[in-house]
Amino acid sequence: MRSALLLSIHAFLGITCAEQGHWRAPRKHDSRGPCPLLNSLANHGFLPRNGKHIRASVLVDALDDALHLSDSGRAFFQAQGEKALTISTDKDNSTFNLIDLKTHNVIEHDGSLSRADAAINCGDNWTFNKTIFEETKSYWPNETISVRDGANALFRRQRSAKSVNPSYDLPYEQLVNAIGQTAMYLGVFGTYATGDANRTWVEYFFENERLPYSLGWRRKGDGEAISKEGIESLGALVAANWLQINATTPS
Ligand code: HEM
Repeated sequence: MRSALLLSIHAFLGITCAEQGHWRAPRKHDSRGPCPLLNSLANHGFLPRNGKHIRASVLVDALDDALHLSDSGRAFFQAQGEKALTISTDKDNSTFNLIDLKTHNVIEHDGSLSRADAAINCGDNWTFNKTIFEETKSYWPNETISVRDGANALFRRQRSAKSVNPSYDLPYEQLVNAIGQTAMYLGVFGTYATGDANRTWVEYFFENERLPYSLGWRRKGDGEAISKEGIESLGALVAANWLQINATTPS
């Protein structure tokens, strides 16, 4: 009876399970960092809204709640969480804060899609940068972002960042991370088999640090849970396209 009443109140207010995680803009002392997805999860309350003192297990549960992970996907992101702990500014290193992720060349790197390089922006490599993101958007010509267009946008942004940053540096490990991050947004807002992300969803996500529920995006369903294999195979497709563009574009 009580749950039936709650359900009808929710229906009346337009609150559905698909829209779980009420979005709220970050407040003054909240911690946010260079990853648009983790910032979004904090804005929705999947991660602590203050973005602080996050355990690797809490990170994995938040990603699962928001996006839907398979067991191998959980293991993949557990390892990412453990990497984040290595750059934690918390006392006992069993938790991290979103701003800690700005540490250069651990996961954060030069040549981002929506952030400036630390060296040319007074150390701010983590704040969303509209000018840079407008450039990225100009490389996505179609309503869906193909693997090719995703790889091309990354390649062009890296070229452009290098041209204005005399100390530009993208070690191999960070190039792999950057390619992985392109695969991440293509997979979450498209499919892990082919990429083909919905451009409107991707742009809304970056610009608002908000999951695009209002535009029709939903958590992955049964049979679509995000797996390590899916992330790696889409990453390999992005890498193959990036390498081909690099080999055929005059310097
Ligand atoms: C499905 C999960 C995830 C998605 C969809 C995602 C998405 C992204 C995207 C699209 C970027 C590129 C931003 C840009 O170039 O401007 C990025 C950057 C970043 N992400 Fe995530 N991310 C995910 C999980 C994680 C996790 C688990 C961590 C660490 C614990 C993380 C840490 C970072 C960091 C440090 C950057 C900055 C890289 C840079 O310098 O551009 N991300 N992420």
